[in-house]
Amino acid sequence: MTIETMLDAMSLEDQVHILSGASFWSVEGAGLGTLRVTDGPNGARGGGSLVGGVKSAAFPVGIAIGATWNPELAQKIGQAIAQEVKSKGAHVSLAPTVNIQRSVTNGRNFECYSEDPILTAALAVGYVKGLQGEGISATIKHFAGNESEIERTTMSSDIDERSLREVYLIPFEAAVKEAGTWGIMSSYNRLNGTYTAESEWLLTKVLREDWGYDGIVMSDWFGSRTTAPTVNAGLDLEMPGPTRDRGAKLVQAVKDGLVSRETVRERAANMLRLMARVGSLTDHRAHVEVADDRPEHRALIRRAGAEGAVLLKNDGLLPLSEQRIAVIGPNGAVAQIMGGGSAQLNPHYAVSPLEGLRARGLDVTHAAGCTNHRFEPLLQGVFTAEMYSDRSFGNLAATVPMDSLMAFWFPPMPGGVDPVNFSARIRGTVTTEAGLHRLGVYAAGFAKVFLDGNLIADASEGKWTKGRTFFEEGCDEVVGEVNLTAGAHEILVEFVSKPSDNLAFAAMSVGLGRPMGDAEIAEAARIAADAECAVVFVGRSGEWDTEGSDLQTIRLPGRQDELVAAVLKANANTVIVLQTGGPVEMPWLPQARAVLQAWYPGQEAGNAIADVLYGAEPSGRLAQTFPKLWSHNPTHSQDQEIYPGLNGHVRYEEGVFIGYRHYDKQGIDPLFPFGHGLSYTSFDLSDTVVAAGNGRASVTTTVTNTGARRGATVVQVYVGDPQASVPRPAKELKSFAKLWLDPGESRRITLDLAPRAFAFWQDGWVVEAGEFTVQTGFSAADLRHTATITMGASRLPV
Ligand code: BGC
Repeated sequence: MTIETMLDAMSLEDQVHILSGASFWSVEGAGLGTLRVTDGPNGARGGGSLVGGVKSAAFPVGIAIGATWNPELAQKIGQAIAQEVKSKGAHVSLAPTVNIQRSVTNGRNFECYSEDPILTAALAVGYVKGLQGEGISATIKHFAGNESEIERTTMSSDIDERSLREVYLIPFEAAVKEAGTWGIMSSYNRLNGTYTAESEWLLTKVLREDWGYDGIVMSDWFGSRTTAPTVNAGLDLEMPGPTRDRGAKLVQAVKDGLVSRETVRERAANMLRLMARVGSLTDHRAHVEVADDRPEHRALIRRAGAEGAVLLKNDGLLPLSEQRIAVIGPNGAVAQIMGGGSAQLNPHYAVSPLEGLRARGLDVTHAAGCTNHRFEPLLQGVFTAEMYSDRSFGNLAATVPMDSLMAFWFPPMPGGVDPVNFSARIRGTVTTEAGLHRLGVYAAGFAKVFLDGNLIADASEGKWTKGRTFFEEGCDEVVGEVNLTAGAHEILVEFVSKPSDNLAFAAMSVGLGRPMGDAEIAEAARIAADAECAVVFVGRSGEWDTEGSDLQTIRLPGRQDELVAAVLKANANTVIVLQTGGPVEMPWLPQARAVLQAWYPGQEAGNAIADVLYGAEPSGRLAQTFPKLWSHNPTHSQDQEIYPGLNGHVRYEEGVFIGYRHYDKQGIDPLFPFGHGLSYTSFDLSDTVVAAGNGRASVTTTVTNTGARRGATVVQVYVGDPQASVPRPAKELKSFAKLWLDPGESRRITLDLAPRAFAFWQDGWVVEAGEFTVQTGFSAADLRHTATITMGASRLPV
């Protein structure tokens, strides 16, 4: 049967039925198999809650893949994640995330690849091809202008068309035209005042008419808010289900003439085409999720971790050969493998740096030195939750076990209770040492936490205020201090749901920790001094780098800068390993001999980091400029004013001048430039020739490994248009190639520059006649060759 004959056989109601979700993660149609989706992009979580759930493989996060500069690797990762999606009984991955790292404080930068559209696009194309080659649909997201999290469900990103076309839309365009993506997710935000889910310009004019897209557009979760406006604009699927604005409302809208039958048929055709592509039309298998821990996925994740690691600084200390080392820092014994939010999953396992280094048979001592958490450490153990179907602990509906005091409640819920109309009493025992403790709670809902019958942390109604947790539905952490005796203590949480602002779920998290102070920093310095070398693991975690909350500073949290300074003073042979989802200020950098940025590299974190410290090539290059200070970033003024929002608008007033384009324009030296990353060997370029003709150009160059070890480098080509009639960046990345070479090996390579590499947007793609610069090198600040070529005028197709 063709899609057309299927549509002919479907009633209006049947067609409408497949334009919204049946459940949180599925779409159903009369007589059709169930279409299932699962979150990404660093794995496939499956249909469970954000916490817990069936285990899955945790791959490196977006910014780590960005730093690999390796589209073939992105493709392999996409392919492996497709296998993970299948293990969760799903057909569609809600990935990749390709918003642009416009600011340094966006909570979701960790999930995105780069500040540069061309690099982002190349990686996205690889990833989408990897997924779809296995028959799993990509859902490239979030279309478009979702470059910050603050008030993201109401905020308008005000972006001029030129900046959209030249920067923010490029990865989506490439995914459509080069990878043939089958799915796109609209963003939560408004674009120039209109919700993207209602933007006919974006979803129909640009996407379908200009780019020729034939896949589906689905809303972000609860990001579709209307009936006729979304359907008419081009939004095929409202998610999640059950429907809020479609179903009977859409049938009525057709009857009232607000939506045409033709439009509904077109949206339904798009949905059927997707179902045919992923094989779900006839997939009537029962939904089964399994944990599929494959050795080949383990190996790929470990390799990708090293490929994304960026060696920022090294005066010869790395790679290490020392056998007696001190592992210092709050991220030493804790595996920081992923960011927070919908990209979270329950990993098969997580290797900490301490474990990874010990597995090499080294003699390792350890001290945390300080904390870097945003919230007190989550309480884990055996707890029992009584769930009541009212908000006053009246009707007991179910009693369920919990293995931590974090809960994420959305339907189906225990006892069938409603996530916005229930209460819960959670009890258990915690065992502590003697001394001062901090008990913290944050919740999307109202919560009181008692220890041994005493109310310690109170976020109940009246005390609760909206904060920056749980996708902006939760309060900031409320902490109570308490002196405890050593031994067991009874804990009780009383939780009462509250009406949701935007997203209909409830959640809570309760943690208990001990304050750390000067003594712990001194102890860490002492241990460092006693070792042959110290490795300090500092950074952030998914509590900071998370969906739903932007950062308020790019200084390392807590007392980590002090800890680093103290250890550097105690032992000059100190390596700093950073794990963050973006740049941080590094006041101690002049004293540090070696700094490695390892991001959140997935479940093999500790092994991959240990590999690099002991000799595996750190072949990552920065996909985002690291500024010396946050105030150097183009969005700084807005970032600061934006809390609580500039009247609901984020103005992209820097236009196309983001990232390295901005630092070039302002003449600001960054801490580490875009494209930067050291190798354990060295490279040179020679005999570089730039040729131009027929509106295209090419760079041919010889790359030589001039050092003594096998290693990798990334050749980068930047184009400038100094004679342009509009302000254009001094240079923009237009092509790159990653190469692995043996010691002494040379390879001659050619990089192509298509006509678009010379164009800017002015009611269409325009190449102006005149001279262009073509610079070739190893980073935005390490350019080894410059040529000037002349191009003729042309207008290019959209
Ligand atoms: C996120 C999406 C995600 C969806 C489903 C939203 O909060 O923005 O990226 O796919 O939730 O979990």
